[in-house]
Amino acid sequence: MKNCFFKALGIKTTDRAALLRFSRKSAVPMDRLAYYNRNNILPTGKDLQAVCNTAGITETQLMLTMGIFDDRLRALLRKNADSIYQFIENFQDAVSTEFPMPPLALKTKLGRLYQGDCLSLMQHIESDSVDLIFADPPFNLNKIYPSNIDDNLKTEQYLSWCKNWMDECIRILKPGGSFFIWNLPKWNTHLAGYLNHRLTFRHWISVDIKYTLPIKGRLYPSHYALLYYCKGEKPKAFHPDRLPMDICPHCMGDLKDYGGYKNKMNPDGVNLTDVWLDIPPVRHRKYKKRNGSNELSVRLMDRIIEMASDEGDLVFDPFGGSGTTYAVAEIKKRKWLGIEIGPVDDIIVRFENIYEDADHIERIRRNINCLITKNDLKRRIENGWWTPDSVRKKNLKKV
Ligand SMILES: C[S@@+](CC[C@H](N)C(=O)[O-])C[C@H]1O[C@@H](n2cnc3c(N)ncnc32)[C@H](O)[C@@H]1O
Repeated sequence: MKNCFFKALGIKTTDRAALLRFSRKSAVPMDRLAYYNRNNILPTGKDLQAVCNTAGITETQLMLTMGIFDDRLRALLRKNADSIYQFIENFQDAVSTEFPMPPLALKTKLGRLYQGDCLSLMQHIESDSVDLIFADPPFNLNKIYPSNIDDNLKTEQYLSWCKNWMDECIRILKPGGSFFIWNLPKWNTHLAGYLNHRLTFRHWISVDIKYTLPIKGRLYPSHYALLYYCKGEKPKAFHPDRLPMDICPHCMGDLKDYGGYKNKMNPDGVNLTDVWLDIPPVRHRKYKKRNGSNELSVRLMDRIIEMASDEGDLVFDPFGGSGTTYAVAEIKKRKWLGIEIGPVDDIIVRFENIYEDADHIERIRRNINCLITKNDLKRRIENGWWTPDSVRKKNLKKV
């Protein structure tokens, strides 16, 4: 979908003079025309009228050329599906690319790691065979990866690449399986639009992590978007953790006023919401498994794998990185499949020291699924605050 807007107007991208003429004739500034073209955005209001009149085309022609479909166009396409299919069948590319199986880089008790392109591996995975897929692709931020992949694609190229690997993920996901995608909100708005036609939307989870410095003229970007979909009506596995209530780390008092509801609170903790405030960025050397950024926290993967799979299930992550998904899956007794296009040495070393991740997960698990952690409970009692036991006893006395 490159330069579709200019194509519809009959302007060659390299022909600045033609663009200038069009801009003068339509009275739509050149930079605005360039903006519509660069982002494949349909003009609206007076710009739409001016552009169509000047180019001598209708709004429908413009939308078709730009590949933008509203409900009216979609209905027309559906109504004429047979004849449209007959027409396009003649143009279909008959050659489908076959990828060779990438080489195996690591085999563990429960998993296999390959080195190569995720698309080539997925071609060899059977349809409807994976229980949980988690994908953390490069964000197209022009970062330098050890694999030297091109992280500065044109928007349309990046989205088309994402659709390719998402299509394969959807194909290999079992009915009842869950699919998570970690990305910037900017990209996930597009990916969600695509997935909404193929899977069932469960949640858009906002994970509160600051990932850049404040940008002038913009709000400070402070969350990653974690898309959560399932294949079919509902997921086969869904066991979200419960979290401890918020407590002041100094006086140990409540940070929220629970009023008369203290005795109604679940001693196993508060419900997990779709805003996650407790996921740390992996910056500390102690936890980092490879140089550079992009490594996700063990706490995040522990939560996702626990929530959306069972022991013995098969977990797949198409973008290995430092292997966080694979290590957590192994520790949590899930089978796993993985692939990384760049060097895989860090993942192999990580597995040699997997007890470090196991210890980490054990510490995380000790402090969830309770309303007040063991440590906090002791200090809260010392400071004279209520506990689930004390409110329950008080209630019993009333009876
Ligand atoms: C954002 S990182 C993933 C980090 C990982 N979640 C972790 O916690 O360490 C994305 C990774 O995908 C890899 N990658 C990019 N394109 C790929 C492809 N086509 N197939 C397999 N891996 C790819 C990159 O080399 C990079 O290591």
